[in-house]
Amino acid sequence: MVSKTDIQKEHTKLKEKIKFHNEKYHSEDNPEISDQEFDLLFKELIDLENKYAFLDTTDSPTRTVGGKKLSVLTPFKHELPMLSLDNAFSSDDLKDFEKRNLNKLKENIDFSYLVEPKIDGVAISLFYQNGKLIRAGTRGDGLIGEDVTHNVLTMSEIPTTLKNTNLDYPKEMEVRGEIFVELNDFHLINKNFKKNNQKVFANPRNFVAGSIRQLDSSIVAKRPLKIFCHSIGYISDINFFETQDEVLKKFYEWGLPVSKEAEVCKNLDEADNLINLLTLKRDKLNYEIDGIVIKINNKAIQEKLGNSSRSPRWAIAKKFAAEVGESKILNISFQMGRTGVLTPVANLEPVKLGGVTISNASLHNMDEVRRLDVRENDYVKIIRAGDVIPKIKEVVLKKREQGSKVVIPPNACPTCKNTISFFESNTPLLNTNVLTTIDKNCYGFSQFKETLKHFVSRNAMDIDGLGQRTIDIFVEKELVTSLPDLYRLREEDVLLLEGFAQKSVGKLLNSLNESLNTDLHRFIYALGIKEIGLETSKNLSKYFKNLKSFFSIDYETYLEVNDVGEVAATNLEKFFKSDSNKNLIEELIQLGLDLKSPVQIKTSHLTDKVIVVTGKLSNYSRETLKLKLENLGAKVANSISKKTDYLIAGSDSGTKLSKAKQLNIDIISDSDLESFINNL
Ligand code: IVH
Repeated sequence: MVSKTDIQKEHTKLKEKIKFHNEKYHSEDNPEISDQEFDLLFKELIDLENKYAFLDTTDSPTRTVGGKKLSVLTPFKHELPMLSLDNAFSSDDLKDFEKRNLNKLKENIDFSYLVEPKIDGVAISLFYQNGKLIRAGTRGDGLIGEDVTHNVLTMSEIPTTLKNTNLDYPKEMEVRGEIFVELNDFHLINKNFKKNNQKVFANPRNFVAGSIRQLDSSIVAKRPLKIFCHSIGYISDINFFETQDEVLKKFYEWGLPVSKEAEVCKNLDEADNLINLLTLKRDKLNYEIDGIVIKINNKAIQEKLGNSSRSPRWAIAKKFAAEVGESKILNISFQMGRTGVLTPVANLEPVKLGGVTISNASLHNMDEVRRLDVRENDYVKIIRAGDVIPKIKEVVLKKREQGSKVVIPPNACPTCKNTISFFESNTPLLNTNVLTTIDKNCYGFSQFKETLKHFVSRNAMDIDGLGQRTIDIFVEKELVTSLPDLYRLREEDVLLLEGFAQKSVGKLLNSLNESLNTDLHRFIYALGIKEIGLETSKNLSKYFKNLKSFFSIDYETYLEVNDVGEVAATNLEKFFKSDSNKNLIEELIQLGLDLKSPVQIKTSHLTDKVIVVTGKLSNYSRETLKLKLENLGAKVANSISKKTDYLIAGSDSGTKLSKAKQLNIDIISDSDLESFINNL
């Protein structure tokens, strides 16, 4: 048997070896071994530390210098979706939240709540298996984030092995938390970056987001990232915790940092009081918070309430009133979008609000301009709604200069003379989509550029090397005057333009060529039809399967597609019935457009099976199981009927079990569940 001392010796040797190669790689730029060999050594160290909890990891490269340089972050699939939180803006909103939940439960229970700050950082999921940190991922779109294990391992605040457990922990659990930076650290870092002429970060959250997604973990190791852990995602033993409060207590014991401000409140009134106290404390905290979260404390009730598609029903975030700033409107201009809509925009004297500098704010449409009675040279109050988009709240009339004039929208383009009409909310719309002039001041000209920008964008045709500046040049030099012109670009013509090298032109033409063979949904989206976003394009492409069908489809058939409402159906019909659009697509086909039809989702043994779940299950919560079954293509129903294929029955199954027996429905017991799911 290998002795403890031998393992410790091996550990020390491995640590030294990795540190040596790290130094060679990072400081001397003179590596002695390949990246792959380095990765293997690093993995050996992680495995060793995971296997033997007694090893001293305080000075380990897994904690201090990551040294692992990746070329790209890999996708991280969450075991359970990382949801958002619903917002409350007043005490009444909180009362509604409680009422909604009581109604849903159909019982009169006194809830106790856990209240704590909502940290304004970056959400993270830490997956622990048998008490060891196995992997860590960012939120991403909620279902799939990015694997940032290499960076999380450098954070000394996060234990790689849970402490003081006495081996009492769930076999598997996802710890959810928020990574943040303390304000004094952030200001110091930005000051140093500025001194060294490096890019400074607009706010602490941007700094954290930029850090945690680094490919090179040695950079992250030097940044003072902190974490507060606040909840549980997937857990193998759903009865492990009885309350949210217990979750935090256990986290603390296990060495996972939690908020010092968290407290249990006996009822909603107490919770509301604590929210007010924490709100007053906001400016004294050494980190940014953007609200206070209140959660029903009892886990069984949480489980009963479950989630809506976006957020858990058992928690809500009380948001702070938006910060207000003041600035002067320098002028109001009209910005042309790709659909011909002209948006009035207030160009402002730059002002700092919530950590970012704001220099313009959209006024949306003429109704809004009139409602605010906003004019050039006015002083205005600005808020950042939802913490992001700046919005003009009101005009400071006291400061209005004499003789100011109301805003009058253009009724035609000053250059191409195309007329402008007004639709809903008095939104100005240019009545053209043909390029008639290449004058920079022409609205139609800007519109065409926007159309191109959208066409080549990442979710559309995804053409590399066609940024805004290149598009401007191509259009201004008349190399591109229609979408098909993109595919007529010739190397020799582009090379004649200033600033284009052979290599980049080759890449661009290659990317254009590849884009002719893209997915059907990307092309539909790229066409920029009003109201047809990426999701709708995917649904359309799944339904109609090929481009040809679009030309023969009428309004009613479009309505059959998931997500397509009356407006979208009208726009689709109009677009595909138009001769000029038909010609445009015909031209693209002649240039080689050959689209891929959507692939069918993989089928499984449970595809289209109707399943009902009842009773208590030892390894799954209802929500987890439902998600798992749905991902396998099953339909999860609430009640037993003749259509039910299977009943999954845990302990304490009641009437559903007897009904299923009567109807002769296959019953899957708790102990058979794993083999049923895995088709074994
Ligand atoms: S509880 C949504 N508690 O806010 C599932 N979330 O808008 C339950 N956040 O991405 C989350 N501080 O990462 C919870 N004390 C806190 C939080 C918190 C920050 C983040 C969370 C999530 C986002 C939801």
